[in-house]
Amino acid sequence: MKIAILPGDGIGPEVTDQAVRVLDALALPGLTLFSGDVGGIAYQRHGTPLPAETLEMARAADAVLFGAVGDPSCDDLPREHRPEQAILGLRKQLGLFANLRPAAGWAGLEHLSPLRPELASGIDLLVVRELTGDVYFGAKGERTTAAGEREGWDEMAYSAPEIRRIAHTAFRAAQGRRGRVTSVDKANVLETSRIWRETVIEIAAEYPDVTLDHMYVDNAAMQLVRAPASFDVILTGNLFGDILSDQASACVGSIGLLASASLGERQTAYGTFGLYEPIHGSAPNIAGQGKSNPVAAILSLAMLLRHSLGREAEAERIERAVAKTLATQVRGADLGGSAATSEIGDAVVRTLLTIS
Ligand code: IPM
Ligand code: MN
Repeated sequence: MKIAILPGDGIGPEVTDQAVRVLDALALPGLTLFSGDVGGIAYQRHGTPLPAETLEMARAADAVLFGAVGDPSCDDLPREHRPEQAILGLRKQLGLFANLRPAAGWAGLEHLSPLRPELASGIDLLVVRELTGDVYFGAKGERTTAAGEREGWDEMAYSAPEIRRIAHTAFRAAQGRRGRVTSVDKANVLETSRIWRETVIEIAAEYPDVTLDHMYVDNAAMQLVRAPASFDVILTGNLFGDILSDQASACVGSIGLLASASLGERQTAYGTFGLYEPIHGSAPNIAGQGKSNPVAAILSLAMLLRHSLGREAEAERIERAVAKTLATQVRGADLGGSAATSEIGDAVVRTLLTIS
């Protein structure tokens, strides 16, 4: 089993270190870790945010554990050199079209949500975001209008095959959950969304045990704060999924606890090849101070073990260790506590070793 560790920028390295400590504590046989540069640090060292060696290392692995990318010192670089291009390039080059972003409230942490506790406590949803299409990867550019003014443009497109495969991901996920898919689009305005909706309806016929409904994205944004517990699986495109998954994570109140998986079609000997990353970004404002919360990175490791390495038991063990750790009030500043990054890692490792 090979894991590529790509810590990246800002708090990426410090939270990834703690996840690797947790992985070490599991003492899985036959595991090899590789690590590579990605993001702003890669640009500084190699002149590109996604060096060819890093991409090759990721390709050769069974899974990638990713920290975060983003560095304010790169803000003025041309787009192709910016750290964000690294994660976009990895997603595209590795065919990681399915992004799973679970958001669920944690018992005892409801007060961190900006929503009333009775709304926040019921949240248990999964955003299934298409990750390699949409306006993110369409043609784009700058042109001059007839009046001689600058104009930026980005093409938004979805093909039926792209929609079909992400729809299958969402319906299968719903079968293992509460059996509901809400497909989010803007079919009252966009042609892309019309094809999206018609294709999703087609695929739904193969899943009679799953209930499908449709929502326009503006309404979905509203329902997410009015009745977040009413959602099970939210199936949507790249841009809407980017926005709604941030909103969903804000609803549970603790972005430092949310993990994500980006999966493709390639099967490894143990599961599905994937890249795993915390939802939070590089947080340059608190980087290097040892006060970031490594829980999202540790939970990303759990998702990695589950989806890519076929280690469900170990994944659950990590999740239980995290839940116990949080319950014993070992919490970082983002959760109203004062535990340092390494103290949270220590507590999770210690707890992990006491449960089987
Ligand atoms: C995310 C991030 C990325 C995205 C950025 C860093 C390109 O916001 O993973 O949600 O927009 O997909
Ligand atoms: Mn985002």
